[in-house]
Amino acid sequence: MKRSSITPTPVRAMFYLAAFLALLIPKLSSETGQQLAPYPLENSEHSAFPAHLYYTRQEPYRSYECFPKRIHLAQANNVQDDHRVSMTVSFSLDYENCRGAQPTVFYGRSFRYEGTVKAQEPKQFNYTSGKSDGLFQSDWIFHVELPRLKAGGFEQYWYRIVVDGNPSKAVLTGRRLHALRGMQKRLGETKPHPFRTPPLPGAPTTLALVGDLGQTENSTRTMAHIWRATQKNDFNDHPISQLLIAGDMAYADSDPWRWPSFLDVMEPLFRSTPLHVAAGNHEIECDSITREIFVPYENYFRNPNRIQEADKLPVSDDYRKTLWRGSCSAPSEFQSHYDYGNAFYSYDHGLVKIIVLSSYSNTTAGSVQYQWLEGELQSVDRKRTPWLLVSFHSPLYTTFLGHVNEAQSIAMKKAMEPLFVQYSVNLVVSGHDHAYMRTHPLAYGQVDPSAPIYLTLGAGGNREQHSEGYRHENPEEWVAARTLNDYGYGHLYIPNATHAMFNWVRDGVSKDGIRDHVWISNTHFKP
Ligand SMILES: [Fe+2]
Ligand SMILES: [Fe+2]
Repeated sequence: MKRSSITPTPVRAMFYLAAFLALLIPKLSSETGQQLAPYPLENSEHSAFPAHLYYTRQEPYRSYECFPKRIHLAQANNVQDDHRVSMTVSFSLDYENCRGAQPTVFYGRSFRYEGTVKAQEPKQFNYTSGKSDGLFQSDWIFHVELPRLKAGGFEQYWYRIVVDGNPSKAVLTGRRLHALRGMQKRLGETKPHPFRTPPLPGAPTTLALVGDLGQTENSTRTMAHIWRATQKNDFNDHPISQLLIAGDMAYADSDPWRWPSFLDVMEPLFRSTPLHVAAGNHEIECDSITREIFVPYENYFRNPNRIQEADKLPVSDDYRKTLWRGSCSAPSEFQSHYDYGNAFYSYDHGLVKIIVLSSYSNTTAGSVQYQWLEGELQSVDRKRTPWLLVSFHSPLYTTFLGHVNEAQSIAMKKAMEPLFVQYSVNLVVSGHDHAYMRTHPLAYGQVDPSAPIYLTLGAGGNREQHSEGYRHENPEEWVAARTLNDYGYGHLYIPNATHAMFNWVRDGVSKDGIRDHVWISNTHFKP
């Protein structure tokens, strides 16, 4: 592959010309609202990841019964003052064949081996729902932290997962009976997978932002575009170093088998590009017996700086008084007591501090999440992370039909929009509407040059397809761009403290996929 799909030569030249002009004239884009014209998908183009990315399924690795699957990466903490950072490698082993197996992660840089981490006790969850065909028992899920790696991504790291075990212990309970009692045996291994650590504080930063992904051909097309943008080559000087999904991922909808299939499909991207996630309504998925919510979401993912381990918190007495509406699979309107684990968290990534919130936890003034958010905003060091991005699933502003005036959005807007304005949040990233929208800087419904820009990026490609329509034929005055005819993702490039470039990258086209392009000034640093 010689060129990135988002940076063909003429387009790249235009980017840099735009960057140069934007630096000379530091102001916000002033274009008026535009409705992007429909553009049909070209179904023959890039319908999936490049075939070579699936190499782990080739021999000899396929012969192992405990082959590590559903591998994904996450940043574990912030880059420290000594430029060290930890990363989390997550993966699964088969429930039946791998009981007692002991995985180890080897890692290093370039051709050097640097360390070994033995996996601790795996997580495993049981789940019952109307679609689980009885009790679903998940695979063994591991989250292994690779400690104190050198941040900055200057040199590529690699990791390799090796699974050893005593066959009498590990396999006896499975389908096969091995007679090598007492002997250690290699039960599974992966090839080395490359990855890069996060950028240093103050260094140029490039992120992929997407929502409502799903596991359709459109989803894989979106992810293939993102994968190509993660590759450093002659045409891509600033590859994407991380992916943020603003909720609604597998669309499992309480069918627990759809989570493994989602993670399998996306593994070629997720195993080398750190992935962080926000809770969408399709992640609510409560257990029909215990009523515990966000069960697969809590177990499969390990976001940075988690609040606490709490996947087995007891259900509180007033739980059923919350916004429940009789359904807890994927209700559009929902609010409950979800103040632990992957619900909300924050971390630094290069020039940006990212705060991920939960639309489906209590957001009102005085709530656990509100108080946590206020503390986070008060403690942001804008010299260290001059850009501030907040992400959650259910948007506060929408130009689309389908999710208008939903309860959790109304509650969050009332309580938290004043905080976003007060602390000069730059970008607010949501999904939920299966479409694309960018607003002008916006405060309390009015265009305000010093206020946050709201992005809706829910056109990742899921099976529910696009939003049903626009609320008004003509875009509202605060809409800068919108479309409900494309799938794609958001590409955010931040070269410095004062300017950032955002592109909406459309799927299904063989050349320039950019449908919306804007340079943004950092309003925290007023001239
Ligand atoms: Fe969705
Ligand atoms: Fe949603």
